[in-house]
Amino acid sequence: MDRVDGVDPVDQRRDDDGHPFLRVEGLGKRFGGIQAVADVSLDLARGELLGIIGPNGSGKTTLVNLISGFVRPSAGEVRFRGRRIDRMPPHRIVRLGIARTFQMVRPFYELPAYKNMIIPLFSPRVRGLVGGKYGDRDAVALDLLEEVGFERDAFVAYKPAGALPQGYLKRLELAKAMALEPELLILDELFSGLSLAEVASIVPIIEKLRQGGMTLIMIEHRLRELFRIADRVVVLNHGRKIADGPPAAVMEMDAVKSAYLGAAAETAETSDPETEAP
Ligand SMILES: Nc1ncnc2c1ncn2[C@@H]1O[C@H](COP(=O)(O)OP(=O)(O)OP(=O)(O)O)[C@@H](O)[C@H]1O
Ligand SMILES: [Mg+2]
Repeated sequence: MDRVDGVDPVDQRRDDDGHPFLRVEGLGKRFGGIQAVADVSLDLARGELLGIIGPNGSGKTTLVNLISGFVRPSAGEVRFRGRRIDRMPPHRIVRLGIARTFQMVRPFYELPAYKNMIIPLFSPRVRGLVGGKYGDRDAVALDLLEEVGFERDAFVAYKPAGALPQGYLKRLELAKAMALEPELLILDELFSGLSLAEVASIVPIIEKLRQGGMTLIMIEHRLRELFRIADRVVVLNHGRKIADGPPAAVMEMDAVKSAYLGAAAETAETSDPETEAP
């Protein structure tokens, strides 16, 4: 990717007949009295890795839900390659090439891990991509799981998902999204609940996806790891975008330090943001 001084002028890398790859404009979501997302606009270029950070409850997951169709906006719009997607149901958005993982993983616990892969592998998107000729989907599932770190020799993929530790469940979540062969992959706190060593083993998988041309959005609390791989970082606070730029520049902004790091310091005293219920 051609970048000068870490700045990546999105407008110079438009495709799809001049449309930005992803454009979020004036997006808002209100739940009763809570303004979860407020007037958020952002552009994403093909091939970029955008990090989204912000304190707990700042609207990151809601933003992912809005882009992936799980929640309908109260205001604004989302366009993917020029096409309005904010009124589409999730399955149509998946079919267009946007896949996302969930912060709270909910696999079919009684099924073997590799059988969990059946859902994406038999989806209309994959059917379209393979021209209806599915082939041996179990073999594809096992290959994908090996790619994300399921050791084939140890037969981990054959264990019921319910018997797997969080590290493998997060890997399974990633493999399910990869199985959809998305053009845009959105990872909602993939690293949470993982050890440093586990994160270190997943980073090369993400880098490999990027080398293959994937565009990514990563929601993360693990800033150190995120900042090493992100091209650009957006910061949310109380649903609003308060910063957008290269990681180093963003973390130098006073508004970010006080909003994000101030809140992080507070929550660190009361809870551990790295641990969450499965
Ligand atoms: N379905 C919903 N109904 C009502 N309120 C909601 C709903 N989803 C989210 N909210 C509220 O919207 C706000 C933003 O939540 P969201 O989950 O998007 O934050 P987040 O930045 O992902 O937080 P975290 O870092 O804890 O994952 C919170 O106040 C949350 O309680
Ligand atoms: Mg969240």
